[in-house]
Amino acid sequence: MGEVDPAFIQAPEHRPNLSLVAETQGIPVIDLSSIHRHLQNDTVSDPPAIEGVVKEIGRACREWGFFQVTNHGVPLNLRHRIEDVSRKFFSQSLEEKRKVARDHTSLPGYYDSEHTKNVRDWKEGIDFLAKEPTLVPISGDEDDDRTTQWTNRYPQSPPDLRETVVEYVDEMEKLAFKLLELIALSLGLETKKFHGYYLKDQSSFIRFNHYPPCPSPDLALGVGRHKDPGALTILAPDEVEGLEVRRKSDQQWIRVKHIPQAFIINIGDVFQVWSNDEYESVEHRVIVNTEKERFSIPFFFNPAHYTIVEPMKELINEQNPPKYKPYNFGKYLVNRKDSNFQKRDGENLQISHFRLPSI
Ligand code: OGA
Ligand code: NI
Repeated sequence: MGEVDPAFIQAPEHRPNLSLVAETQGIPVIDLSSIHRHLQNDTVSDPPAIEGVVKEIGRACREWGFFQVTNHGVPLNLRHRIEDVSRKFFSQSLEEKRKVARDHTSLPGYYDSEHTKNVRDWKEGIDFLAKEPTLVPISGDEDDDRTTQWTNRYPQSPPDLRETVVEYVDEMEKLAFKLLELIALSLGLETKKFHGYYLKDQSSFIRFNHYPPCPSPDLALGVGRHKDPGALTILAPDEVEGLEVRRKSDQQWIRVKHIPQAFIINIGDVFQVWSNDEYESVEHRVIVNTEKERFSIPFFFNPAHYTIVEPMKELINEQNPPKYKPYNFGKYLVNRKDSNFQKRDGENLQISHFRLPSI
């Protein structure tokens, strides 16, 4: 038994199986090089020529809700730079990092450990909004129309952190829009079907995660099991493996293999609703280990806060009626954030709360 604080100990049914052997069949890996040959004004064009990729993406979204992409067009040098500023930030003293601590009313800033239900995650992190300021509802309360503005908290050191974050977010957005187009095509929708939810405002953000070595990786988790609330996540992992994905076919936890330079993509709750359950937002979690620290950088691609999320009209008909009632994305996000802080008993707000009874 290691010496971890009981606050980090997972209930027995959620503890990881560390003897898991590497799976030969992991999440799909999709080569995006063909789409770069068919771009017009940065938009995926000539759908017949990219039919293969679109099919692969559709299959991956349907079967796993997760995939990795290679030849994605994000410069390797920028990836190295963002990883470098993240490591440098976390290597500072706790006192220094806490100078940019987030407060309980907003998302941006540094935090040392986060609550997933009543158990703490074995990690520290810092979040930066993609758009400054980002407009969000003041509360998750349905009847409260007031909004507020969130702004970033940039640390003084490392000095090039801010410009690197801005540049990286820009590249993430470009990749995210391409993925949005490919996913739209894979659902049989027009290329730019989802763009409108992002054009004027969006509530996307990036997160630097640091998972320190843990004396009892059999009892704790870097991030407890969860689903991402937004539309799409683009994750830059380092070479230390740790992410596990719940396989839809048998509910087993499957370790994601490290592929140098690849990004890990997953469908979030918003896409599950947009696609009327054609694509599911899949549970995932992060395993920690005794020797190696791990770093990761997810980009959460989220629509404008006032987006009303509901199944796409083109995907519903009499045989396939809408499975969700419309909900307000910003309220959902604020509710989820509040429940993280308040350590509410029971489940966080989930899209299942908006599920309509099937007839
Ligand atoms: C997350 C997440 C995975 C990872 O931050 O939501 O799932 O590998 N991270 O860090
Ligand atoms: Ni996640």
